Amino acid sequence: MPSEPADCLPTNHRKKRVAVLISGRGSNMVALIEAAKAPAYPAGIVVVISNRPDATGLAMAAASGIATEVIDHTAFARDRAAFERALEACLESYRIEIVCLAGFMRLLTPWFVNRWYGRLLNIHPALLPAFKGLHTHERALAAGVKTHGATVHFVAAEMDSGPTIIQGEVPVLPGDRPDTLAARVLELEHKIYPQALRLVCEGLATPP
Ligand code: GRF
Repeated sequence: MPSEPADCLPTNHRKKRVAVLISGRGSNMVALIEAAKAPAYPAGIVVVISNRPDATGLAMAAASGIATEVIDHTAFARDRAAFERALEACLESYRIEIVCLAGFMRLLTPWFVNRWYGRLLNIHPALLPAFKGLHTHERALAAGVKTHGATVHFVAAEMDSGPTIIQGEVPVLPGDRPDTLAARVLELEHKIYPQALRLVCEGLATPP
């Protein structure tokens, strides 16, 4: 029997059009790309956008056949609004419905965040609201916590804040160093980000 053309599928079977924004190695981006390859997964990664031309994740995205774009923030000097207008135009040109930040190292202004509220996700390598910002694994070890983890959340205007979609926990083990703890957390990140994106696409996670 011939397969049904994608355009004839009921709207709720159509994959949501997702952009992944990166600045670096893009291992979470790869996890999302891999998950989205499954026909039943409710999202398709349409484009990967980097603010850094040298982000190593760009080559991996291209190798997977995904469109890549560079919007180099240094070309906009300190004009965040102009950078975000270019980003917005790029997202519109790909008819993007959901944006996933995956190691994207630019602060976004309230204009952009409010425009995308509920459709803009981020992953943070800590159990928010603990350890916002950088160097989370070093700080978790210094604080002596027994449990650490990662959070996927809807992005709100304040950095590393917004309603949680999924949190995952890992133990902090005796003898852990920042790199060993980071590796354990990263493995968890690669599981929970695709799970969180699925929940959002299926309407099972919505911001208040
Ligand atoms: C991850 O630890 C993520 O939680 C944080 O930045 C890192 C990005 O890693 N926001 P990668 O580029 O996805 O490998």
